[in-house]
Amino acid sequence: MIEPIEHAADILSKAKSAVALTGAGISVESGIPPFRGKGGLWEKIDPMKVAHIDAFLDDPETVWKLLIKDMKTLLDTARPNPGHIGLVDLERLGILKTVITQNVDGLHQMAGNSDVIEFHGNFAWQSCLDCNQSIKTSQVDLTQMPPRCSCGGILRPDCVFFGEMIPHDALIRSQRVSAACDAMLVIGTSALVQPAATMPLIAKDNGAVIIEINPEPTPLTSRISDLPLLGGAGSIMPRLLKAIRRRRPST
Ligand code: OAD
Repeated sequence: MIEPIEHAADILSKAKSAVALTGAGISVESGIPPFRGKGGLWEKIDPMKVAHIDAFLDDPETVWKLLIKDMKTLLDTARPNPGHIGLVDLERLGILKTVITQNVDGLHQMAGNSDVIEFHGNFAWQSCLDCNQSIKTSQVDLTQMPPRCSCGGILRPDCVFFGEMIPHDALIRSQRVSAACDAMLVIGTSALVQPAATMPLIAKDNGAVIIEINPEPTPLTSRISDLPLLGGAGSIMPRLLKAIRRRRPST
């Protein structure tokens, strides 16, 4: 029987418009903990108390202290890992067109992917709740909690909190590229948060092959994924790329 990774390499080496849907798991090997599962952030703190927009607006100081401040420290030093690099290699081989990411860490762009849809916004920027001015997260003064804009208004990250809408352009483009892709790589997502988790269903419904990379099974694994590859993205992606290059020796 052909090994699943070889089978996935067969499919991808012939694909021309693959799309990746990524989640927190792809950044685990960059030192950023996931939300769910082993070592997940939501095991330690209740997301409804720190990641819901109502919680933030009720008590921004607590949400900054419990969540956003630590996130800033982590993301300031995080660098792409072989999982991210594998997606850049796939783009350079002309196989991968777009990355849809639920992550706000900017690591796909840092690695070098050129078309990244940030489904849940990004952490690189903050907006003032009063004057709406944008400020780079790297320039935020953390000595006062919650941090404030020069106008005195409270700053919030440009990320989607629970209870908020997905940015319109990100949602529409994600649906469009999912419907048009010939293969979808679903990497490091628990596939429990909607509407991101619908993208593999849209892709499959339109004839794409679904390749899933995750050390644990997810709700997609038995019903939607055609090729589940069990393991961490940082070890599976280099093996997958090696198998693809063997099939395309000139690239
Ligand atoms: P989760 O934390 O829900 O799931 C992470 C997934 O990554 C799990 O299925 C793990 O098994 C898997 N994983 C762990 N280590 C891995 C590795 N080395 N390689 C590959 N996979 C690995 O993360 P998301 O699905 O991204 O939303 O969560 C979706 C959304 O829920 C997030 O964007 C965030 C969160 O609450 C908002 O903040 C709006």
